[in-house]
Amino acid sequence: MTSPENTTTSLDRLREVAVEAARAANAHNTQPWELRPGTDRIEVGWRAEDALGPSDPAHRDLRLSLGTYVESLLIAAAEQGIAVDFELDLDTETRRVGRLRPAVWPYDTGFRTSDIAGRRVWRGAWKPQQVDTKAIGAAQETARAAGFRVAAISAVAARPLLVRAYHWFFGDPGIAEELMAWTRLSPRHPKYHSDGLNDVMLVLNRVERFLMGLLFSPAVYRALRPLGLPRLLTPLSSSATAGDGVVLVILGKGEDTAQEVAAGRLVTRLWLDLFRQGIYVHPQSHVIDCPRTVGDLAALCGAEDSERPLVFFRVGIPAVDPSLRPRHPRRDLPQQ
Ligand SMILES: Cc1cc2nc3c(=O)[nH]c(=O)nc-3n(C[C@H](O)[C@H](O)[C@H](O)COP(=O)(O)O)c2cc1C
Repeated sequence: MTSPENTTTSLDRLREVAVEAARAANAHNTQPWELRPGTDRIEVGWRAEDALGPSDPAHRDLRLSLGTYVESLLIAAAEQGIAVDFELDLDTETRRVGRLRPAVWPYDTGFRTSDIAGRRVWRGAWKPQQVDTKAIGAAQETARAAGFRVAAISAVAARPLLVRAYHWFFGDPGIAEELMAWTRLSPRHPKYHSDGLNDVMLVLNRVERFLMGLLFSPAVYRALRPLGLPRLLTPLSSSATAGDGVVLVILGKGEDTAQEVAAGRLVTRLWLDLFRQGIYVHPQSHVIDCPRTVGDLAALCGAEDSERPLVFFRVGIPAVDPSLRPRHPRRDLPQQ
């Protein structure tokens, strides 16, 4: 660790690492975070236009994504010897999750910027190979230390819930519209290289790409939805529901939404640790958001009364090498 440094310097230097922190996982790749510099602190907030609506009805994913960003920022800052800490202070009115303040020492972490840079989501097919139970045990221990519980359930048991949740997801016109607003099916899309979900990381082949563009176009979607279109769309996500791997579910206690920011920080630590072991992650939020599956999911996890699922992610070994595909992009940072 490097020695403590001057207050203003540590905050000024945070901008240097903000680019690296922006590689944080975030729902729909909207990159909702915003750093708001002040004299003795930097607020971490979000931009209203990058917060999802119907696809994230409780804004749980928003708070989780801001947590993944904060953790990534602290890791990147620590590597540069920048001494800051994070104070959680959620305020919906001003769209703030908390603030970064100068600290005596850099954040204590075993992760490095290269871990943040290498991590990526995997939505493709999985090898039958099972994830080492030691890795799952370690994730459960890390979660316990952070005040959360990780339940490990089989993908086979979760599949009926996932399929039901996909029907709900694809059948909701607001969600479908939002999905298409953030999906970039071709490099010709003006925002293909800056944000959203691209065809490559959605692992769509040419036919699926064409079908997605066609079936989600407003007129076709409106006409076919009452005829059972959502069921037809679910196979687009077949690799997400297939196989006999493991799903990890992070459970929190009580209704306090601020804990979701802390859970997002935990997600980063778990994801980076798994990634170091060659284990990939696919979060799937709709099974928690869908009113017809969240209760069954809680029951599968053996949730106590006060516990609720916050994050659902499949873990495993990809069937093809993910590094051969371009990653989801990030926007350039705004000039200040
Ligand atoms: C809180 C949260 C929820 C997410 N939910 C989903 C999801 O439901 N389905 C999915 O395919 N990916 C999901 N993701 C993955 C993001 O879409 C992904 O992180 C983002 O597109 C950026 O890509 P990258 O992680 O490869 O950098 C989620 C990620 C986070 C942090």
